[in-house]
Amino acid sequence: MVRLSRLAVPGSILLILIAAARPQIPRPAGLPQRAHAEVDGLALTPPMGWYPWNVFGEEPQNEKLIREIAEALAASGMKDAGYAYVGPDEGICFSRGRDGTLTTNLSRYPSGLRGLGDYIHTKGLKYALYTDAGTKTCSTAMPGTKGHEREDMRAFADWRADYIKIDWCNSQGQDIVQAYSDLSEAQRAAGRPVVHSLCSWGDGYPWLWAGAIGHMWRTTADICAPGEADWARAIRIAFANEKLGEFAGPGRWNDPDMMIVGMDGLSEAQNRSLFSLWCLMASPLIAGNDLRAMDRSTIDILTNLEAIAVDQDPLGVQGRVIWNDGNVSLWAGKPLFDGSLAVLVLYQGKYKAEKKIAWEELGLEAAEELYARDLWAHTTSGPHAGGLTVSVGPDDVAFLRLSKKAEFPIPPIVVADTYLISLRSTGARAETLTGRVSVINKGSSDLAPWRIDPKSLPPWLTVAVEGGGKVQTFVNKASVAGLKKGAYHALVRADNVEPVSGKPMTALYYDVDLEVDRSVKR
Ligand code: GLA
Repeated sequence: MVRLSRLAVPGSILLILIAAARPQIPRPAGLPQRAHAEVDGLALTPPMGWYPWNVFGEEPQNEKLIREIAEALAASGMKDAGYAYVGPDEGICFSRGRDGTLTTNLSRYPSGLRGLGDYIHTKGLKYALYTDAGTKTCSTAMPGTKGHEREDMRAFADWRADYIKIDWCNSQGQDIVQAYSDLSEAQRAAGRPVVHSLCSWGDGYPWLWAGAIGHMWRTTADICAPGEADWARAIRIAFANEKLGEFAGPGRWNDPDMMIVGMDGLSEAQNRSLFSLWCLMASPLIAGNDLRAMDRSTIDILTNLEAIAVDQDPLGVQGRVIWNDGNVSLWAGKPLFDGSLAVLVLYQGKYKAEKKIAWEELGLEAAEELYARDLWAHTTSGPHAGGLTVSVGPDDVAFLRLSKKAEFPIPPIVVADTYLISLRSTGARAETLTGRVSVINKGSSDLAPWRIDPKSLPPWLTVAVEGGGKVQTFVNKASVAGLKKGAYHALVRADNVEPVSGKPMTALYYDVDLEVDRSVKR
């Protein structure tokens, strides 16, 4: 099977491929050079969420599972830590009807794929779906988008997807840049901004071109076969992905695959290390474990806001290896929004290790006096001059933030109570209906009011932003005067700027539905 042979690609070959990529592959001509995200404002920090593949494989993906996971995301505190995207991977189980359009498998998704999306949106989460750019998905059980790009992207827009993972199985003979560009174009034509997550496992060197048409791309083969977390493999992937940092930035991310944190077979230290590495590399944080059955330690790791702050930093710099002696590696090169630096020491040896981090290795003056925040112990020490010694256990990390100041602010982490407002007018009266979306900033800095371009709204809708500081509420007023009987929809976009760095924040989108039962006079 295609999947097995792909999983068999050893990490060393991947490393060779990656090393070979830079001099040999020219940036394809004719593509827009701007990052896709500059237009739609999506994924300006790495997407966070959950996908089923690592732990479940194709079975038993169905509506019940996805709903239970959405509930677990909220109940475990992961939603409050910024995880938002959730939905089926391969297991989405659509088929293509005679007219060419995709149809939902209602026995697995009884509410339909739109119904599941609405449920996820009302939980204040974002809807992630899956497809393949070839003729069929990897299992060959489902149709791919080839030759149906427009219809399929239209269907994903109708289902109200916010994120689509696009696999690269059964794509023999296709030009990869063209295929993913066509999908991006089709998605634009469908009119719903969607995070495009390209999944070609590094085939076609997506880091060279995919920023212009998507938001993130897999850099390596799968991190594990379903249900079989593999620490050594994950570490090889981290070291391969680390080399591609120059291609990443706000809205265009290297994706070393969904995480295996919390899966059977990993120790607490390994979970902590993997999570820290993903954060240091500004990787998408897509959990891959069963969120319904997490122990306390897994929850604490996945929801560590101080580590997440490094991942979600608005500057969007991917950290890298500074040196590696085979047992110990020093990772840094990640300046953060407040002028601090993230630093990580990974220890792959057998016994406890003591390591000195010298400021000069980080490109700092030796005489510099810096405070150190331990992102796992949640303690601050210093000021330290010249450097600092850390002690690290086997497969564990020291994960630090260094700063001239003793404060370590958390950038905005935005969490909404809902992403769907549903309004209904039952009489023929010229009434105004109101629906609210409240957005909480779980970071430590206050935000200016979110801005909405009134020209982007339909004539029946106005939106005002109320509150300030940590909680802001979008007050949506729908005026039905003059509207005919029917269903109306608006996708509202709000923008903001991170107050410390001045960088644009990931645009916030939500849906407003208005149903008018009887035509209304002006
Ligand atoms: C590929 C992807 C995986 C998963 C499977 C589904 O292997 O890399 O993440 O989506 O396909 O078949």
